[in-house]
Amino acid sequence: MTIDRPIGIALVGCGRIAPLHLKAIVRSPEHARLVAVVDPDPARAAEFAGEYGAKHACCSLEEALALDAVEAVVLCTPNALHADQVEQVLRAGRNVLVEKPFSETVADAERIAALADETGLVLAAGHTFRHVEAVRTLQDRRAGFGRLRAVSISMCVFWDGPQAPWWATRTREEGLVLTLFAPHAIDFLQLVVGEIDPLRIHVEAARFQPDWAAEDEAMILLRYPDDVLASIHVSYNQKRTMNRKVAHFENATVRVENGDELWIDDEPVVMPERAPVDDDALFNDGITHYFATQVREFALAVRGLPNRSVLHPSALRQTRLNRAIVAAAQHDS
Ligand SMILES: NC(=O)c1ccc[n+]([C@@H]2O[C@H](COP(=O)([O-])OP(=O)(O)OC[C@H]3O[C@@H](n4cnc5c(N)ncnc54)[C@H](O)[C@@H]3O)[C@@H](O)[C@H]2O)c1
Repeated sequence: MTIDRPIGIALVGCGRIAPLHLKAIVRSPEHARLVAVVDPDPARAAEFAGEYGAKHACCSLEEALALDAVEAVVLCTPNALHADQVEQVLRAGRNVLVEKPFSETVADAERIAALADETGLVLAAGHTFRHVEAVRTLQDRRAGFGRLRAVSISMCVFWDGPQAPWWATRTREEGLVLTLFAPHAIDFLQLVVGEIDPLRIHVEAARFQPDWAAEDEAMILLRYPDDVLASIHVSYNQKRTMNRKVAHFENATVRVENGDELWIDDEPVVMPERAPVDDDALFNDGITHYFATQVREFALAVRGLPNRSVLHPSALRQTRLNRAIVAAAQHDS
């Protein structure tokens, strides 16, 4: 779907994930226009502004929010800043796409969701992995698959210790793989089971690497109403990436493999051509198209058009589930 004019965006937080958002914005000129980049490190902000063609390199969010051309903000800052920065953006009358996790606590998630309701602005969460043709096709054909019985998700990657300094100090209560990575799996699960809450949650978590304090491997088991069962395995220790999501329906077994392939009853249905990428890492240029679809959906939401963004009611439900999962992992092993 097209829109009358692209939304003016400020990207905040020029770290590891920012280039994927920036490339996505640059590749979506009909939907989005990069106005400013923000980072407390002026050299970094200037470097990113130069590389991606932003007119303004800012050192604070306030500075970006003072620019009239900024209609929306993409927040790529450390998790602990998300809720307060979302609040700042909404109070300034701008729309916001916040990277996952939506918030670190349920109270924060409720606070920003209430503010989005009050202001009527768009508050979307960056659940990037649903913005692929494979998952969109699954959604479109969902009714024909019949009753859902079970969902089984394995998302296992290898990170050799902390990927940003703040990863090292996250506590078990804050969660590591359960809050930095499991949200992708939780989003897929919620997309398939619908906007309902599980009846029961059981979690076992473990730590294999010494350079962080919290869990890097976890198994989650859930029971939903109508006897729907689900399991999620997340890991930061798997040298060969596995990204497999299987939904067992009455009429079909539907698999999303490697993020963007769709298999129905072992028949390939969506098989994207893969551009060659430098490495096997999960967050490489090969997934920029996920971010491009995401920013286009966000632009549609900002313009009040039908869209597939993960909006705040859904993000709030996911936050509640994510925090319940982290709490369920706190028992002694
Ligand atoms: N969607 C995905 O697949 C995905 C993947 C990786 C990370 N993420 C999320 O993206 C967010 C950022 O992760 P990252 O790995 O890029 O982190 P990072 O630490 O590499 O980058 C964070 C950036 O924010 C900047 N920053 C810090 N305080 C700031 C402030 N007050 N104002 C503006 N900028 C500030 C830092 O200087 C840094 O450049 C996290 O919430 C993470 O969970 C999402």
